Amino acid sequence: MSLMSKHTILEKNVILLAVAAVVAVAIGGLVEIVPLFYVKDTIEKVGSIRPYTPLELEGRDIYVREGCYLCHSQMIRPLRDEVERYGHYSLAAESMYDHPFQWGSKRIGPDLARVGGKYSDDWHRQHLQNPRSVVPESIMPRFGFLFDTPLDTTDIEAKMRVQALIGTPYTPAEIKSAKADIMTQDTTDSDGAAALAKNYPGAISRNYAGIPHQVTEADALIAYLQMLGTEVNFKTYDDKANIR
Ligand code: HEC
Repeated sequence: MSLMSKHTILEKNVILLAVAAVVAVAIGGLVEIVPLFYVKDTIEKVGSIRPYTPLELEGRDIYVREGCYLCHSQMIRPLRDEVERYGHYSLAAESMYDHPFQWGSKRIGPDLARVGGKYSDDWHRQHLQNPRSVVPESIMPRFGFLFDTPLDTTDIEAKMRVQALIGTPYTPAEIKSAKADIMTQDTTDSDGAAALAKNYPGAISRNYAGIPHQVTEADALIAYLQMLGTEVNFKTYDDKANIR
């Protein structure tokens, strides 16, 4: 009996076909899943990744609240066109303190995984107030009200405690100083800037939205946008050292 005619037996018997299909899928599943049990670590170790500062964490919450993720992804795939447009592909470690992650699934606007430092704060201010003022063909909605809305920080300690509970290494001291840290980071030339940068390496203190003596939702959002994708120095980062 040829192989083809043996296959005919399968094709003519629904139950036998179903059983054979289940067996085939099970083998496929095993081949894909079993190796994962032997992978030591699915997140590569990158020393420079730090938790968000309280101001950035608040900004992230505004990003989620406003549904920015519905139009923007935060995940650069390891494909040539993406890497040429957006920069080094995203590392798993870069979203290890994102609960929940903001990879997104739609790109009505560009990917934002490495938007930090790409534009000035002033550009972000104009863009959020009226995207058409800097990108005439933009279809992004205006978010001007964020500049008139004081940032509500009453829940920041609780938010950080929840993050700590699910694995973000915030210390009790960092949680306690959260409100003060928000003020510090939103002030240009603030006295506490060095101390803040010691707890949160690379954290930059300046008046993000440019409104003196007030922390608005826009400050938090811009602080968050300006640090996205800036934690890893890809000039010194060695991909191969991380492949196991
Ligand atoms: C309806 C879809 C939509 C929503 C919602 C949206 N955007 Fe956009 N965004 C766009 C489009 C389209 C562009 C490209 C044109 C432009 O620069 O305005 C863009 C561009 C951007 C850029 C510039 C990116 C670059 O590399 O040039 C930033 C930053 C940005 N958006 C941030 C945000 C933030 C923050 C929010 C939420 C507060 C948001 N967007 C919500 C559609 C959207």
